[in-house]
Parts: sequence; structure tokens; C-alpha cells
Amino acid sequence: MGTVTEASFDSHFHQDDRNGSENQHLAQLVNSISELSLPRLDFNQLLHEQLEKAKELKSRILAPPTFGERFLNLIEGPWAPAARDLPDRRDLAVSRQELTPFRKPCRDKLDVSARIAVKQQVAASEHRWPLTRWSSVYEYDVPIQKLPRDLHGFTVLHLSDIHFLKGCERPCEELAQVAKFLETGRRKVDLILLSGDVITRSPEDLNKEALRQLHRMSDVCPQSFMVYGNHDYHGHMPAIISKKLEEVGFHDINNHHIKLKIGQASLNLIGVDDAYFGDPTPPTVLDKDGINIVLTHNLDAIRGNFPADVDLILSGHTHWGEVKIFDGSSLMRIWGYCDNINSHTKQWDVLSDRTLSFVHPGLARYYVPFRGLRHPPGVAIHSLYAASPITEL
Ligand SMILES: [Fe+2]
Ligand SMILES: [Fe+2]
Repeated sequence: MGTVTEASFDSHFHQDDRNGSENQHLAQLVNSISELSLPRLDFNQLLHEQLEKAKELKSRILAPPTFGERFLNLIEGPWAPAARDLPDRRDLAVSRQELTPFRKPCRDKLDVSARIAVKQQVAASEHRWPLTRWSSVYEYDVPIQKLPRDLHGFTVLHLSDIHFLKGCERPCEELAQVAKFLETGRRKVDLILLSGDVITRSPEDLNKEALRQLHRMSDVCPQSFMVYGNHDYHGHMPAIISKKLEEVGFHDINNHHIKLKIGQASLNLIGVDDAYFGDPTPPTVLDKDGINIVLTHNLDAIRGNFPADVDLILSGHTHWGEVKIFDGSSLMRIWGYCDNINSHTKQWDVLSDRTLSFVHPGLARYYVPFRGLRHPPGVAIHSLYAASPITEL
């Protein structure tokens, strides 16, 4: 039937060029359309509805946890709103503007107050929305000095501390939500960076389902890279982790660097090995004209030993302050999951006149989550913007 209809449709229009019956047919068509009572679109009303929706969404996201939620948090884990459909980023544009009241350019020489201002500025741009019941997506606007024009708005999806674990479904479920979000195309992501602790105990933790979810993500964004975390050395076979991840599109840049060409601009991506079990090599190959991003698992691997030209250091490991209540033989001994819990649990820090540092919350809940009621685990999205006038190339 479809073929017949299609053929008659074609012949109809070819023949009507000659006898003028096409005009008659079109006139009939126009008459029949004009008789339809189509509703008129009220764009003011639509705009109003969108604004109301965005405000409502914002109030839900920013609403403090109720007493009941705080109580549940004590017994179940960090508070997070119930899972709901992922919000469309466009709906959040209004609340985002209100949350980012100013964008102060960095100066070449930052004094202490200016550093605090930059830190507060990037922290104030945080926009958090629920990924699942237990995790969130943290979005930040990240000021980069002398950012080339082609990198303005460049977006990095930062994953860390996934801690796949044999027999545990949750990490795969969390990643499935991230992959689903990427596949919707609601948020353009240019680069995916994974800063270690992919597994928990052994390479077997990285099962087929885990790899499938990672593959979904690298299918959407082929520029996906990883470095090792301390847990990836469990089983003494980080190369196996690396090989498996390579097969699903996550490239190993452990103690390597790779230069990405984005339009006319270049982005130098430097991977540094884990501080505990790896052999961290400070980055030496830096791009003077582009921007330099360092990816490492533990900030200890590079803290205090990084070149001045580094723009951004992305790390993880601390899970934003998870704590072991007992450690080996010492029952009830509280042990922070990092050497310096005070400095390493800071989400954002300004390490030099040029260098910003971000410590990731991690996607896993591993020990007791003293990360605060408002800071559940999750993933981070960093959007780069020029802190000084955009460099003309
Ligand atoms: Fe971890
Ligand atoms: Fe770690």
C-alpha cells in the first residue's frame, strides 16, 4: 500500500505541472487547513511557564533537607533527593544566572583575598542536581586565564572513584544514569576524564556490565582518558585495568601527556600516576600557548611540585572526607581517608596565581560518609570560561 501511495503521489505532482489541476488541489488543501481551528500559541504564556518551572526546580534542588531526611541520612547515608527525571539544562538557565552573580577576572598576581574570591566564585557557580537517589551531578563554571577562544565553553565530564565491586550493582546503576544523560545530548561534553580508583579489590570487579556502561559513555564522547588510583593497583595488575578500559574507549595517560587540538587551540592533558603505589612523574611537557590540565588520582602526587603553567589539576581519592571508624587493629580509631583531610577535602582551591585544583567527591560510598549532608557522591561537569579577555588566535 505504501508503494502505491508513494507512486501516485509522485505522478500526481509531475502530471499537474501540465494541466494546472495541481493549483486546484492546493487551493482545496489551503481551504481545508484554514477551516481547522488550530490553537494559537501564546509565547508569553510559554515563557512564563518555563520560568515558573525553572524556579520550582531551583527551589526543589536548593531546599534544605527536612528533619525526616536528616534522620534518614543518619541511618542510610548522605541525603539526596529522590530519583526523578533528569532536568533539562535549559530549564535551569534562570536559576544558574542567579547562582552566578559575578565573574571577576583573575589578575596576574593574586593576593590572598583575590584567591579566596576566585575560590568562592567557582564554588558559587556550583549547580547540583540529582543523578540517582544516592548521587548528584555537580556542575561548575571554571575560570581559566588566557583561555583560547575555541576552548570557551569547553566541557569536561570528570569521573572518579567509581569503585566497581564484584557482586555490587550500584556503581553500574550510577554509571548507567550518567551514560543515559550523555546519550540524551542535553549537555554537550567534549572530554571525559577518569581520575582513578576504577575498581575496589581486583580486576574482576571490572565486569562486563561495568565495561558496557563505560563504553556507552565513550561512544558519545570518544575523547575519554584515565589514570590509575591506589585501588587500581590491588592485585598488582593495573595494566589489566588499563587494557580493559582501552577496549571500551578510555585511554590510559598514566605518566603520559596528550595534546588535543580543538579548533585552532590546543589542550595539553597530562596524566600523573598514583601517589601511594604508583610512580608519579611531575609534568614536564607543558604547552606555553594552550592550556594545561593535569589529571591525577591523589593530589599528594603533585601538590607542591607542579609547574607554574598548569591551569587546572583534577584529582579524587578523598571522597570528600570519608572516614574509617576503625583501622586494622585499632578499633574505634578514626582515620581520615587521606593524609591531610583538611586540605584535600576542599572541592576547589587556588594553588598558584594560575592554577586551580578540584578534588572530586567520588561516585562511590566507601567508608563512613562524613562529607556533610549536602554533599552526596556523584560526578562533576566543568565548563571552562575565559577569566581574562579571550585570546585572539
Ligand atoms: Fe577511592
Ligand atoms: Fe583512592
